[in-house]
Parts: sequence; C-alpha cells; structure tokens
Amino acid sequence: MRQSLVVGNWKMNGSYEANRSLINGIKQNIASVKNSEMAVCPPFVYLSQMKRLLKDTNIGWGAQNVSQQEPGAFTGEIAIGMLVDFDCKYVIVGHSERRSLYGESDELIAEKFATVQAAGLIPILCIGELLEEREAGNTEAVVKRQLDAVLNSQGVASLEKSVIAYEPVWAIGTGKTATPQQAQDVHAFIRGQISALDAKVAEKVQILYGGSVKGSNAKELFAMPDIDGGLIGGASLKADDFLAIGQAG
Ligand code: 13P
Repeated sequence: MRQSLVVGNWKMNGSYEANRSLINGIKQNIASVKNSEMAVCPPFVYLSQMKRLLKDTNIGWGAQNVSQQEPGAFTGEIAIGMLVDFDCKYVIVGHSERRSLYGESDELIAEKFATVQAAGLIPILCIGELLEEREAGNTEAVVKRQLDAVLNSQGVASLEKSVIAYEPVWAIGTGKTATPQQAQDVHAFIRGQISALDAKVAEKVQILYGGSVKGSNAKELFAMPDIDGGLIGGASLKADDFLAIGQAG
C-alpha cells in the first residue's frame, strides 16, 4: 500500500499573518487526518516561518522551485543548499506554470530533479498535458515525453525517491477537475511506463493528481487505484478545505 500524500502548492500567495492563521487552522485539526501525510509549499521567503511553525508537527514543508546551479552569480535564484538549510523535505519541479510562463524545458526540469535528489530532498515532478494536446489525442505522448526526460537522464531507480504529480493543465485553477476515470487512466499509463522498466519502482512511486481538487471531489479521485493523493492549489489556502482533502486519503 502506498502512503497517501497531500501537498499544498500555495503558488505566489500568502503573507506572514495569513500563513500563521492558515497553519494554526491546519494544526488545530490535523488529528482528523488519519491516512494522509500532509505538506505545504509556500513561497521561498516563508520557509523560515514554516520551519518555526511546523517543526514539532508531522506536517512537512517544501519549496515550489529551485535553481539547478551551484551557488554563484545568479541574481534572484535559490540554490538547493538554501532549501536544505530550511529543512525542506520536498521541492516541486516542472510545475506547468514554470513550463509555460517561464519557459522551463523538459531538460532543465530533469536537471532540477537531479539537483533536488543529489541533496537528499524529494522532488515532486509535475507533468501534464494542455487542453489542445488532450483534444488532439496526445495526452499519453506528452506525459511520456515529460517523464522520459527524467528517466533517460536519471534512470528509473531515481523515481524511487521521488513523487510524480499528474496535473492536466486544463484542470488547474479552472474548477474543471478531470473525472476520476480520466485521471486514473493517465496515472495507470504513467505507472505502466515506469513498470516496463522496473516493476518494483512502479509499485512504490506515489503519483499525485492535481487540478481543481476540493474537499468535495477528493474522495472519489483518491479512491482510484493509481491515485496516491493530491497536489492542491487554491483549496490548500483554506485550512478546512485542505484538511478535508487530507481526510479523503
Ligand atoms: P488548483 O488546485 O488551484 O487547480 O491548482 C492545482 C495546482 O496547480 C497545484 O500545483
């Protein structure tokens, strides 16, 4: 049985005060979450606040991005060692907003994935197709290409200490969730691709679903055999919604 994992991707949201009240709200009722591991990924500048607020809890934290470079002259970038300093457990790599708005390529994302793993942190590799790609019948080809960039450069064993998040781009922030069957089909395809190389790794790797997950639809999504939890945007900014999603795991 794979452990259910629910990760909040706060994106560029939050403030010192809002985070404090959100985290307090989550901590207050975390005992109601029985079967999911929970983690939050705030903007970089709030990682020290997370370390302080979450250090004695079983809620993890992580970052939304990282540089693939060693420390040096890279204005505005964050090196992996800095995330280690703040005890991050997870780092999201290849979110569709990084791919589409900041031009991150499959190759760059594979480098970031390797950077995170080399430091002993867990990359959450995001993959997923655009609406046009789905409508053209290319969903599997797109997620295969995105996955292969990591498989070909890092090898299948690298996935053992990673998390994959399938996030169909048309479902992100749109309120339009993939149906449980649509999501399951792609999750099964992803696991099948990995299984063709190493069945044990495929059995072990957690594949999260992301895209308009809410308290009201999480249970039926998470009930699918290849969906091992969620990567949550909007609903992770409200303690009750985030906890309800955790309870669905
Ligand atoms: P929403 O849950 O707001 O659709 O965002 C999903 C997402 O992009 C998480 O990384």
